[in-house]
Amino acid sequence: MAAQRILVTGAAGFMGSHLVDLLVSQGHDVFGVDDMSGGFWRNVNPHSSFTKLDLRHKEQVATYIDEVKPSLIYHLAADATEGRSQFTPVTCTERNLMAYLHTLVPATRNGLRKVVLTSSMSVYGAQTPPFDEEMPTMPEDVYGVSKTAMEKTTQILSKVHGFDYVIVRPHNVYGPRQNIADPYRNVIGIFINSLLNGKGFYIYGDGEQRRAFTYIDDFTPYIARAGFDEGCNGQIINVGPNDEVTINKLAELVLDRFYDGGPIPDHVQPKYLPPRPMEVRDAYCTDDKAARLLGYHTTIDLQRGVQEMIGWAKQLGPQTPRYMEEGLELTTAETPVTWTKRLI
Ligand SMILES: NC(=O)c1ccc[n+]([C@@H]2O[C@H](COP(=O)([O-])OP(=O)(O)OC[C@H]3O[C@@H](n4cnc5c(N)ncnc54)[C@H](O)[C@@H]3O)[C@@H](O)[C@H]2O)c1
Repeated sequence: MAAQRILVTGAAGFMGSHLVDLLVSQGHDVFGVDDMSGGFWRNVNPHSSFTKLDLRHKEQVATYIDEVKPSLIYHLAADATEGRSQFTPVTCTERNLMAYLHTLVPATRNGLRKVVLTSSMSVYGAQTPPFDEEMPTMPEDVYGVSKTAMEKTTQILSKVHGFDYVIVRPHNVYGPRQNIADPYRNVIGIFINSLLNGKGFYIYGDGEQRRAFTYIDDFTPYIARAGFDEGCNGQIINVGPNDEVTINKLAELVLDRFYDGGPIPDHVQPKYLPPRPMEVRDAYCTDDKAARLLGYHTTIDLQRGVQEMIGWAKQLGPQTPRYMEEGLELTTAETPVTWTKRLI
């Protein structure tokens, strides 16, 4: 594998930092950026060239890209708070679509060869799962709209300006280094952190909504490979398992593993709240294309993955939830009380 100048955005975040570790271990020259809004210094790989940079700042990003001249970009930086995006549409769009364009445009001017864009299965919206890549994009929330716009813009600019691309659509990735202090997203992390804080957790809706979950080690090798495998160029690929589970079953599993199969205190049993606005009921994908193009297969099932994540989180210890300091951009009667009353 020829060494490349690789830029990973969101490099101090959960998935970005695991990707940097793998690429560094493969001998690549890896540059990472992150503004630390959701990332942690403890995640930064000391053998990568890391710069704290907010990709919303167009001029600073252009100067940085002019210096680094990456040949390959893995774009993971994002505001990925899907459920909150209806209440923070400006932040979501700036941190997703605009931050991406601020990176992609100067990189294109500087000879970019390929971009791997981390999109999301939110682009499928409320269609009937399992979602496959032939389905149209029909996002139901602002986050999904931003990811759809990023996908389409990539395809258009690739045609006009000649760089290659791969779009990956992960689903519910979890594991060590996930930001469990985020009260707005990452259901497994929220459940675990609530238990670490000696509290129960909340379920939006009746808990019978179905999702599929991907352990981080079953994601990182495949996104890495997408950057180098010419056979993936110009493709959109779901990356994640097709085994789905209800949120109620997930809650049972987390409680069981957290208390090692022993008695579960009454006060931590889940409490139910109304569904979040625009949240789709069932969302999971087929993994046929990922299996065919990337050799994707699940190696760590939910039971084991949750066990691993709980072990890591117990070592990390309870985290104080990090609410948006500046508050939500919009609030209505439908805004989850978990956020307005800071219940998590
Ligand atoms: N975790 C999942 O389940 C999941 C599922 C589908 C898609 N994704 C996508 O995968 C990517 C990584 O997600 P993650 O779970 O690792 O989230 P994460 O929050 O841990 O990582 C994202 C990183 O981007 C950084 N960031 C945000 N805005 C920035 C800006 N303006 N400039 C520079 N850095 C900025 C944050 O500080 C954070 O470290 C995101 O694009 C997300 O939308 C994640």
